[in-house]
Amino acid sequence: MPNAFDIRLAARSKGAKSSAIREILKVAARPDIVSFAGGLPAPELFPVDALRAAAVACLAEGGAQALQYGPTDGDPGLRTAIAEQVSAADEAAARAAGLPAPAPVGPEQVLITTGSQQALDLISKLLLDPGDLMVTENPSYLGALQAFRLHEARFAAVAMDEDGATVESLRAALARDPKFAYLLPTFQNPTGRSMSTERRLAVAAVIGEAGVPVVEDDPYGALYYGEAPGPSLRSLQPDLTIALGTFSKTLAPGLRLGWVVGPQGVIARLSQLKQSADLHTSTLSQHVALGVMRSGTLPAHLALLRSVYAERCEAMLTAVEQYFPATARFTRPTGGMFVWVELPKGVDAARLLPLALEQEKVAFVPGEPFHPNGGGENTMRLNFTHSRPEVILDAVGRLGRMLERALADAFHAAPA
Ligand SMILES: Cc1ncc(COP(=O)(O)O)c(C=O)c1O
Repeated sequence: MPNAFDIRLAARSKGAKSSAIREILKVAARPDIVSFAGGLPAPELFPVDALRAAAVACLAEGGAQALQYGPTDGDPGLRTAIAEQVSAADEAAARAAGLPAPAPVGPEQVLITTGSQQALDLISKLLLDPGDLMVTENPSYLGALQAFRLHEARFAAVAMDEDGATVESLRAALARDPKFAYLLPTFQNPTGRSMSTERRLAVAAVIGEAGVPVVEDDPYGALYYGEAPGPSLRSLQPDLTIALGTFSKTLAPGLRLGWVVGPQGVIARLSQLKQSADLHTSTLSQHVALGVMRSGTLPAHLALLRSVYAERCEAMLTAVEQYFPATARFTRPTGGMFVWVELPKGVDAARLLPLALEQEKVAFVPGEPFHPNGGGENTMRLNFTHSRPEVILDAVGRLGRMLERALADAFHAAPA
């Protein structure tokens, strides 16, 4: 029987569903299951010593400050440190691409958020009325689609090739007068694809022509296993782009610490909306992260993450190549956390998941929910950062054999 709350739900809450990922993660968390499902960093690589040292120091030296309420837009020291980090990355990327250095980012252009997921919610509140059209890649990050759907967005989906969103498809979508575009140019979730510098320049030019605001989500840019990524869209179109960053993949997701960089006026508006969401992001988390940034240990930590994850990425690619059916196509990411697999048309990855869990004790995420307007039932996302190479090889082998059996059954069952 519906309770007193259920019968009074607001229209927007009636359609809200729990993410498929979260439901799957409940089973995938069992110790007997090898999970390629979540976007989980390797827990054994969390920089516990650096975080402990920073936590002890900030409580010992400025304990009261680290435990007090703070400003909504974030700790001034952390905003400055992030502005400096972003400006340095912009400059390095511009230099590598042979472009002039963009204007540096100032602390007033940085808003600290409770993870970048909060930024996605605040941006939705800022820009979306029910029924508004917006642009996303096809496929795109499930958590973002969830936030946009809660604000009743409609989607113009942009086709991708191996270099990410295609210029022609993006141009056509932007011509439909959307509110904004949400793009992941760097080691995209879920596909792992990354835009070349050439593609970034072409995409930035199309954005400029259309004059449509862009949200650039970049949690994975520091996790590159070959060359560093090209210039950010924000550095190429600073007046039209706001960029999201996070400590979730470089320090630890439990800190719940992210940021938005953008024009000062937009940052001020987002900050107003954040006031009613949570007053401000955890002061303690902000002080601890700032302590780690100031300790000088971050570059070595990032180098460690890159080398360990590069090995796991290689193991995943080798295993998929070796054990998956020859008809499966898959991406070859050079950074980030995911490999994206496309099985033959007609195969439903969501229906294979229970078999994979029961028979082979392996979890993955079926790809359909990442598609803003449906489709992609024959796709799946595999995370490679959370498991060791030998575990990846073994579990992908089991998954591959299960897929071979499922494909053979589907073939035999097909009408003549
Ligand atoms: C593309 C993308 N954006 C945002 C997030 C949310 O991250 P956070 O932990 O900073 O909220 C994730 C998490 O996996 C992600 O992959």
